[in-house]
Amino acid sequence: MLEPQMTPTVMELLLRACLLLLAALTFVDGSETKLIVREDEDAILPCSLGAADISSRVFDWKKDGRVEVFIYDDGRYYGKGLSGQHEQFRGRVFHFPEQLKGGNASIVIRKSKPADSGTYACIFPHEQPERRAHVELIVDTVLKDRSEENIPGASPEPFITLNKTDDGTLLRCAVRGAFPKPEVVWKDSSGNILPAEEHFTENKGSYDIILEATVTKTDDYRCVSTQQEIHHQIYTETHVNVFKGAAPKPAIAVKETKDGLLLQCEVYGASPKPEVVFQDSSGNILAAEPQVTERGGSYDVILETTVTKSGDYQCVATQKEINHQISTEIHVNVPSGDSDSTPWIVVVGVLVVLLAVAAVIIIKYKKTWKKDKEELQQRKKHEEELQQELNEQKKKHEEDLRQVRLLLEEGKQQKEETA
Ligand SMILES: *[C@@H]1O[C@H](CO)[C@@H](O)[C@H](O)[C@H]1NC(C)=O
Ligand SMILES: *[C@@H]1O[C@H](CO)[C@@H](O)[C@H](O)[C@H]1NC(C)=O
Repeated sequence: MLEPQMTPTVMELLLRACLLLLAALTFVDGSETKLIVREDEDAILPCSLGAADISSRVFDWKKDGRVEVFIYDDGRYYGKGLSGQHEQFRGRVFHFPEQLKGGNASIVIRKSKPADSGTYACIFPHEQPERRAHVELIVDTVLKDRSEENIPGASPEPFITLNKTDDGTLLRCAVRGAFPKPEVVWKDSSGNILPAEEHFTENKGSYDIILEATVTKTDDYRCVSTQQEIHHQIYTETHVNVFKGAAPKPAIAVKETKDGLLLQCEVYGASPKPEVVFQDSSGNILAAEPQVTERGGSYDVILETTVTKSGDYQCVATQKEINHQISTEIHVNVPSGDSDSTPWIVVVGVLVVLLAVAAVIIIKYKKTWKKDKEELQQRKKHEEELQQELNEQKKKHEEDLRQVRLLLEEGKQQKEETA
């Protein structure tokens, strides 16, 4: 006989299998639950005695009023210290030992067969008065081997998005391409159906459904999609933290330092703790170490970074938990960086060269002019000297000429005298 002892992995598998089932929670109050499972799947028959610890009590599961399915008596059960279980269920029925303390008397029937279909009673015989609950189990042979992927129109897993609003957190559940039209509900962790607003569209015989509910409490919330007609139920669960404060718009201050410009971003009074970063215009995150202080559950964040290039910078605060992101952008001009001064050097250089050239030209011109003037004066002096010399020679020549004339005169007189 099999020991109905379960490893955690088996438990996990069972819980997973449970998702496929229309397993409703039944309190032992004489109520009846209808449960439909596919052939060969596990059936979890729910039963609970409130929150009482039942680990030292007795509970008995019977089928159709007489077949012994499972009995638990203060730690002993069929296969462990007790006998009498019907052959049909031998080695296939297990309880949930870890859950006994919480009053959970549910059992699981492994690999359901059509013969398991029937009405099950969960009985606490020693309670005053005796408590019992009924579960009607239908093992559907038609549904055998039809997983939700190959049931046409079966609802896919609901898709959940959260959005922080002024009133709390908006839960949005989307179920797409389902037929027949599923019933979609939001439930809190206690199973209460939340007030919600439904929008749906029908397209070529399948339904898209959006269901929105606003919650103000931290809890696990479940969006459940049910198609009774095809015995299909599926859900997605999400945890919602309701926080006090979405981050306000970051404030940016700019200070000049010798290394560049110091940008300081401040985000005050945010909860949950925001992630704060500086980004340049290409979206690169700049190196910066945030200083975080907490005051009564809300956070102040200061982030500093030094930039050396002019441009647009952004301080972005993100609170993933509440889908909140807010940013402030700033344009900064970094004074006289290396790249900016190059044209000035060129301009100054050109000016210096031009001035030097001009000076050289002027000096040269001045020299030439002076030289010309001196030459002119010298030439004039030279001409004057020449003139003087010429005059002297002329005088000398005239004297010579006069002497010659005199001599000629004398010669003529002598000739006449001698004649
Ligand atoms: C009892 O345990 C089973 C298996 O873990 C679970 O599916 C069911 O919801 C539990 N019921 C209660 C009332 O906790
Ligand atoms: C969340 O809220 C913001 C601001 O109200 C809005 O722009 C955005 O579309 C919302 N997102 C969803 C998924 O509702």
